[in-house]
Amino acid sequence: MQISVTVNGSVHTSDVEPRRLLVHHLRDDVGLTGTNVGCDTSSCGACTVLVDGESVKSCTMLAVQADGLAVTTIEGLADGAAMHPVQAAFREHHGLQCGFCTPGMVMAAVSLLEEQPDPSEQQVREGIEGNLCRCTGYHNIVQAVLAAAHAGSPA
Ligand code: FES
Ligand code: FES
Repeated sequence: MQISVTVNGSVHTSDVEPRRLLVHHLRDDVGLTGTNVGCDTSSCGACTVLVDGESVKSCTMLAVQADGLAVTTIEGLADGAAMHPVQAAFREHHGLQCGFCTPGMVMAAVSLLEEQPDPSEQQVREGIEGNLCRCTGYHNIVQAVLAAAHAGSPA
């Protein structure tokens, strides 16, 4: 099937199999490999992107379901050389170690802060509960998201 998906502001038209997952479309057809695959069972959140502004685990969505929609991936957050405030906060507060979960975690945090610009620590923890991290113990991630909120960060 032919689909057209706007990814980070650019329209990508492709022929895809109806069963193709959005995450594989983004990584293998569009060539944006920042979105990771951690489980393929909708458990880890490493594949989180924004679809029309809503956070979505892209392993749970078919590429054809994104036809005509706008997808933002981790590659689309920065403004040229300037990191998005959430990215900058993750760096500043050491919100990552191996970095595998980080693209999805950052996208989930961006979505959370768009919905709740001044969250409590509990709201941050609930907002990212669908994203797993094997390394950090979450403390620094939560601190990074709170810092980004206080920096007035929504995308
Ligand atoms: S790869 Fe999508 S939730 Fe783990
Ligand atoms: S930083 Fe390694 S999985 Fe989160």
